[in-house]
Amino acid sequence: MREFQSVDGEMMIGGVKASDIAKRYGTPVYVTDEERLRSNFRRIDIAFNERMPTRIHYALKANNNLSILKILQKEGAHIDAVSIGEVDLCLRAGFAPEKILYTGTSVSTTELKGLVKRKVPINIDSISEMRRLAEVAPEGYPISIRVNPDVGAGHHSHVVTGAKTTKFGVPKGAIINAYSEALSLGFKPFGIHCHIGAGVQDVEPFLHVTDVMIDMVNEIRDVLGLHLEVLDLGGGIGIPYVPGENEMDVWALAEAIESRVRDATDVQTLALEPGRYIVCDSTVLLTTVNDIKETPEKRFVGVDAGFNTLIRPAFYGSYHHVAVANKFDHPADLVYDVVGPICESGDFLAKERKLPRVAEGDLIVVYDTGAYGFSMSSNYNARGKPAEVLVNEGETYLIREAETVDDLIAHQKIPSRLMI
Ligand SMILES: Cc1ncc(COP(=O)(O)O)c(C=O)c1O
Repeated sequence: MREFQSVDGEMMIGGVKASDIAKRYGTPVYVTDEERLRSNFRRIDIAFNERMPTRIHYALKANNNLSILKILQKEGAHIDAVSIGEVDLCLRAGFAPEKILYTGTSVSTTELKGLVKRKVPINIDSISEMRRLAEVAPEGYPISIRVNPDVGAGHHSHVVTGAKTTKFGVPKGAIINAYSEALSLGFKPFGIHCHIGAGVQDVEPFLHVTDVMIDMVNEIRDVLGLHLEVLDLGGGIGIPYVPGENEMDVWALAEAIESRVRDATDVQTLALEPGRYIVCDSTVLLTTVNDIKETPEKRFVGVDAGFNTLIRPAFYGSYHHVAVANKFDHPADLVYDVVGPICESGDFLAKERKLPRVAEGDLIVVYDTGAYGFSMSSNYNARGKPAEVLVNEGETYLIREAETVDDLIAHQKIPSRLMI
């Protein structure tokens, strides 16, 4: 887990006091440290590219803020997009279409037409999708195919994608027929793809799936004479959310993958699709304490962010570290549940955590919220989504305004008969 500095007991983010950010922009607010974002990208980019050409496709489902996209575009990232909306955000952030790989599931023909119009390479999820794409794409359209490798892993059953019982990809037993049909439909298949799941902390599942994919690449070459250029091993690299957990050693991962792929295949380029690894620990959520409640059973801290702001604890039971930003060096000796303003008992951010004695008006910081934080937030209970702020070299920048009631009603219409 990432460490933060403090000055006079106040947590610092990118050279700025957390409490100053909260005062200036209000809470709840997501705060991203640009330097950490860039260094996360560079670490994985360099670890792999020093060994073998590797495209780092940032998976923007983790966080699709335009400023974050722009920073990663300037860093030289490629993109993993899962919807036409994500594709359009990336085009607006300045990514060239050929730097984007679209990997959808349950894809409509309308969306396929839109992708072809934008000239974005498509990673095919099913034979049905491929046949429908053939009807709307020109000869030689670049595709890869997502295989279901029957190797799954992840932090929760909802995010294990590579097991054979999931909806994703073409089953590995059908892959030769899929590439054979792709060639006869006139496509230009450049690669093969898999994604085992999300939040994977060990190297081992990645190595296992690499071996499975190498066998497939070679079988495709031997049976069809098709030499695939790109092996895409998907995303899913986990990060340590809990204090004391180990970080994934991306240098060791790069070395182990490259040494397997290099001599065993004709593959020239690797691709990876990290989302969480790049953005997660670059961002914290700041939330103000509204309310303190002590019952015979529990001590609750009621804050102004709930599962509308950060759904991971409620949805996956995920751990996010919490601290009191304005009492950063106080001893943590009382046990609290940190809960939100949503009218459901499942609305919590952290359970049974040791914190210093908390008072109304204190500022709670929730760690590691850059991935699947804002991007999975909602307007439940008619609460606007929070602001997002970027911090760089001691300066702060508002990169998304907090929503207001006007935003909540912007697309609603009331039939005129109800207005009389
Ligand atoms: C196909 C694909 N690639 C990449 C990712 C990014 O995963 P992560 O953010 O865990 O790296 C996902 C996440 O669901 C995915 O489905």
